[in-house]
Amino acid sequence: MPKKQNRTKLPKDKFFEKIEALGEALTFDDVRLKSGYSEVMPDDVNLESKFSRNILLKIPIVSAAMDTVTEHKMAIEIAKLGGLGIIHKNLTPEMQVQEVCKVKYYLNGLIDKPICVNHNETIEAILKMREKREYGFHTFPVINDNGEIVGIITRNDFDFCDNHSVRAWEIMTKSVITADSKTSLEEVYKIMTQKKKKALPLVDKKGKVDGMYVLKDVKRVLLKNPSGYNLDKKGQLRVGAAIGVNDFDRIEKLIGKHIDVAVIDTAHADTKSVISMLKKIKSYCKIDVVVGNVSELESAKRLADAGADGIKVGQGPGSICTTRVIAGIGSPQVSAVYKCSKVADEYGIPICADGGLKNSGDIPIAIGAGASSVMMGGMLAGTKESPGEVVFKEGRQWKSYRGMGSIGAMETNKGSRERYGQVATGKSELIAEGVEGLKAYKGELKEVIFQYLGGLKRGMGYVGAEDIESLRRKADFMKITSAGKDESHPHDILITKEPPNYQVGN
Ligand code: XMP
Repeated sequence: MPKKQNRTKLPKDKFFEKIEALGEALTFDDVRLKSGYSEVMPDDVNLESKFSRNILLKIPIVSAAMDTVTEHKMAIEIAKLGGLGIIHKNLTPEMQVQEVCKVKYYLNGLIDKPICVNHNETIEAILKMREKREYGFHTFPVINDNGEIVGIITRNDFDFCDNHSVRAWEIMTKSVITADSKTSLEEVYKIMTQKKKKALPLVDKKGKVDGMYVLKDVKRVLLKNPSGYNLDKKGQLRVGAAIGVNDFDRIEKLIGKHIDVAVIDTAHADTKSVISMLKKIKSYCKIDVVVGNVSELESAKRLADAGADGIKVGQGPGSICTTRVIAGIGSPQVSAVYKCSKVADEYGIPICADGGLKNSGDIPIAIGAGASSVMMGGMLAGTKESPGEVVFKEGRQWKSYRGMGSIGAMETNKGSRERYGQVATGKSELIAEGVEGLKAYKGELKEVIFQYLGGLKRGMGYVGAEDIESLRRKADFMKITSAGKDESHPHDILITKEPPNYQVGN
């Protein structure tokens, strides 16, 4: 049974207890944070947080496990910005594993299993393989038929090779510098600088390749990650993957590829099947498992007792969700986060507030209510890095965004039907819990996240919270009326120029 600790009373408790006593629940537009005495400058705040017990974040933003939000491009970019991407599961296990690998291979402190090529392969075949698997790198150790290293090919070799029908052994560097598998990172760096080598294969006693280091990544790890990337212990970008309730085969494949965290992704996690899947994974391996979604304290408690390393909260707040109106269930999101965060405080596991955020100001509200991170779908959809093409309509650029419980997503994907408990349902009998639509094209993710974090930092400055944990602890709320909401938005003006962080109609 996971250990519990006593939860200390927090300033917001009184507010939420009163609301609960009235049988009410609130969401983002119903509340604002109280401002207070502050010595905190927004640009000095620390945004580090946790997605799960052992998975750290440099910024508290996680991209949603949705097929129009997170594949490798989003996961790479958001991890480079310090957050985390959860690769969706509307993919075969093999395709999902490939997406994970693209994130893990993007940067490499230690490349565990470098992609090697046979000495007899033609350059044409190697380039084709590289393109097909979408590898971003050009460095390949070359091995003979016994699997022993005989050379290395790097970008220069490809760049200066005009005849692609030659074989690897004809253009490779034969006097390849290698190091023993157990060489330390500092020693690796020394060898690379002394020998002026940008890649250093590690080799076992039998001459077989047992890993590889790349100079720029070694430097990044040794210089303590000045870039703010969200990296694992090996210096690779962190990435998570969604799995379903009957997906044990998928988790086995993903663990082999070193995902950092598995997310059991369902519309209703307080069920026997989710809890037994959670227990099964926890008894099978050490990986962190985040489970969702729930919106009630008792549900969060059951998941925590079953060994969840993080809990995802949100039933129906999402911008593409129709669960609340179709099924008539679900707590408004700020109250749901608050209720579940009590469990998080007792069990020492983080809450991720999933869905319903519309503006950057909703991030400090979600964290103030008790979340350690927020998961975004709609606020990240429509960026350059989200899956799908840009389309032109009515003179503007758009990208598609759809609910995982929409007819379109469920008709074509078992993963989506499973999320909504309709895996055995025929196409014509599907009950949708989401809609399909378009989001205005937003451009590059880094510009979008910059604005979101700007809002969060300013919120922390107003509250006087120097880091995410103090925002969770210090925050206090007030309820606002619809007049208060109107007053919060620009009013009595015809806006002629929208700022990058505010769209009319939000
Ligand atoms: P936002 O508001 O960020 O919400 O667009 C994203 C979150 O919504 C959930 N999700 C759904 N919920 N029907 C639902 O009721 C759906 O079709 C659906 N698709 C996604 C999911 O938790 C996501 O992270």
